[in-house]
Amino acid sequence: MMQPRSNQARPYIVGNWKMNGALADIAILAAIADAVGSDDSIDIGICPPATLIASFAMQCGAMDIGAQDCHAATCGAHTGCLSAAMLKEVGAAFAIVGHSERRAGQYESDADVAAKAHALHAAGMGAIVCVGETLAQRDCGDAIAIVTAQLAASLPALAATDWLSVAYEPVWAIGTGRVPGLADIAAMHAALRATLVEKLGEAGKGVRILYGGSVNPDNASGILAIADVGGALVGGASLKPESFLPIIAAAPR
Ligand code: PGA
Repeated sequence: MMQPRSNQARPYIVGNWKMNGALADIAILAAIADAVGSDDSIDIGICPPATLIASFAMQCGAMDIGAQDCHAATCGAHTGCLSAAMLKEVGAAFAIVGHSERRAGQYESDADVAAKAHALHAAGMGAIVCVGETLAQRDCGDAIAIVTAQLAASLPALAATDWLSVAYEPVWAIGTGRVPGLADIAAMHAALRATLVEKLGEAGKGVRILYGGSVNPDNASGILAIADVGGALVGGASLKPESFLPIIAAAPR
């Protein structure tokens, strides 16, 4: 499926495989797709490396396949990059943009992220815009101000938002096994909601805000029960059915 199937009233669980996975891992995708079946109460996405999008898109059942990034331009002299339309053509329904590993490793700015989200929308795809603070920023007590400013600057200037999701991913929680306290997640998500409403008006109330950073089968139900947590962006635990499926099962619906 190439159009995102998102319905903002449903929880949204997305697996980010990062630079992991090979063609043989289609068996893992098939196992997850089989177990999920056609469950209308939830939206599920998996973002494999770009090399696997085409083959995964043919085996994903009721799930959506997404990309982990895209270029903001539609075509041109951008060696090594992929446009939203190229990703869509091979089966991606959406893409993650502004992941902290790209902001840090590829020096992507908030403006770059907003342009990428805009390009996804123009291509008829969904976008998950990622934001999050570093440990130093959290320790300074500035996390909420920094992350809400990051979101405001990373949002494309478009009011229609059924295609848009946000992921709050504290940089220090990614891949570390550390997660913020539930009250801290709740406070950040409430602040991000306020920013969405400020920027997008009424439409901002419906945008799903996912939490990401060391989500696992043990902590998923507590995190997913928080008001304004509309789902989870899952890295390491999405690589295996035995850790990804319990997270899907933990989503309230
Ligand atoms: P993690 O990664 O679940 O392995 O912490 C989350 C992410 O980076 O999206």
